[in-house]
Amino acid sequence: MYKLLRPLLFKLDSESAHHLLIKVSQLAKLAPIRQLLSTIYAHNDPALKLKVFDLNFDNPIGLAAGFDKECQMFELLSAIGFGSVEFGTITAQPQPGNPRPRIFRLPEDEALINRMGFPSQGADLLAKRLSLLPRNAADRIRIGINIGKTKAVPIERAQEDYVASFSKLKEYGDYFVLNVSSPNTPELRMLQERTRLNDLLRALQAVNIDQAPLLIKVAPDLSYAEIDDILECCQQHSISGIIATNTTFSRDGLKSSSSERGGLSGRPLFARSYDIVSYIAKRTERKFPIVAVGGVFSAEDAYKMMQAGASLVQVYTALVYEGPAVVMRIKRGLSKIVAQEGVSSISELISR
Ligand SMILES: Cc1cc2nc3c(=O)[nH]c(=O)nc-3n(C[C@H](O)[C@H](O)[C@H](O)COP(=O)(O)O)c2cc1C
Repeated sequence: MYKLLRPLLFKLDSESAHHLLIKVSQLAKLAPIRQLLSTIYAHNDPALKLKVFDLNFDNPIGLAAGFDKECQMFELLSAIGFGSVEFGTITAQPQPGNPRPRIFRLPEDEALINRMGFPSQGADLLAKRLSLLPRNAADRIRIGINIGKTKAVPIERAQEDYVASFSKLKEYGDYFVLNVSSPNTPELRMLQERTRLNDLLRALQAVNIDQAPLLIKVAPDLSYAEIDDILECCQQHSISGIIATNTTFSRDGLKSSSSERGGLSGRPLFARSYDIVSYIAKRTERKFPIVAVGGVFSAEDAYKMMQAGASLVQVYTALVYEGPAVVMRIKRGLSKIVAQEGVSSISELISR
């Protein structure tokens, strides 16, 4: 079905196609449509259930940040079978992001380049939308909230800005992600430096009274020494896990010859994200939860990330190239792998 739709969608520029999807997804607010989608995309295998940072997940496949920044497609995303969705990146203050066009397809590489720059309607509006989510649906699927810095706020005042967003949103998320790794907000990646990260984490944990899981999303372009620093900060401030990785500046191995600026995602990112996941898992003796993201298109990709040390996996670009059925296909494939490996659950597979 998506194979037929894709050429039409790809005639539109990426962001227009995305806005069209947001409009069409409103149909999933109707119970019969939602039920139909849930039936079409059903793969509910109890063996895929797992517990990570003390939260129960229906399955390990999550939607990566940036796809539904403002929680406008929740019903659709829940109906197509994600175990978790990560809203955001949200900023404390509303802001327009970079001028369009700012997302570019590289079909030959099954990749995207984006320089969105955190377009955001602001934390207040997201809090309002999240407060209206149907509770029974929200019970099945874990909700992550990804927070970034408002562009107009200087780096020295980043802590206040993150704390403002977190304080507005803290009652609506199951877990929270500090995005310090987007390549499209000037200076943002400086927050990955040890001193700045320590200050940021200290400020956030001070207001995290209920001890919600806080995670950090890292860039794939960091050196191993920089990752070591981040891991030390995570340990010092009781961070619950790491999301590896965001998009990359690198253009290595591309078949396409795009000169667009921005972060690259999709298949060409897999190898680098995999390396970072493997490195973090080794460094932490597989004791620190890792959410792997970057070029995951299939159950085999997801399983490779899990063998490298990931507990959960997220997708974004695969959804653009493969359509919504990719979630079901990855889950079916993982169920098969669980059976072939002779274990009783995905958790057993991950902890081997
Ligand atoms: C158009 C676009 C927008 C994105 N926006 C965000 C964002 O707002 N926050 C964030 O943490 N990551 C964002 N990402 C990065 C993804 O969450 C993910 O880390 C990255 O795309 C690698 O995964 P993938 O290869 O499955 O796409 C965005 C990616 C794309 C393609």
